[in-house]
Amino acid sequence: MPSHTFSVNGESVTVDAPDDMPLLWVLRDLLGVRGPKYGCGIDVCKACTSHLDGQAVNPCVVPVSDAEGRDVTTIEGLADGDRLHPVQEAWLAQDVAQCGYCQPGQIMAAVALLRRTENPSDEDIDAIANVCRCGTYFRIREAIKKAASMMR
Ligand code: FES
Ligand code: FES
Repeated sequence: MPSHTFSVNGESVTVDAPDDMPLLWVLRDLLGVRGPKYGCGIDVCKACTSHLDGQAVNPCVVPVSDAEGRDVTTIEGLADGDRLHPVQEAWLAQDVAQCGYCQPGQIMAAVALLRRTENPSDEDIDAIANVCRCGTYFRIREAIKKAASMMR
């Protein structure tokens, strides 16, 4: 079984797994990192959104071999110790979550968007396309705008 070494939330990890095992499986089942959620497994719902070298990816369709030597960040790695990321603060302030299932992915997608765009438009935000079956889209939009103003 090949072994793969990469960083997860700032810590180096080595796992034995087939090259083509999805990174989401490795995170959740082998490493116990369960913030990224499993929804569809086919790059549609985006519940699993995490970052690879700071870019939003959907690890259900990223083979673990692609993570070799790279930095994986999940929702667990977003806060700085006890200090929440501004996007997390904004999420709480706007009381975004309902059932919560999609929310780690929504927040990770929002953080990646705000890295690319300081002042995102409604169209930029809607382009994230993470699915929320509870329909929290309006509050997500408000929270991203609030976070953008906090980060400027
Ligand atoms: S689980 Fe749906 S995109 Fe990854
Ligand atoms: S908060 Fe329930 S799926 Fe989004």
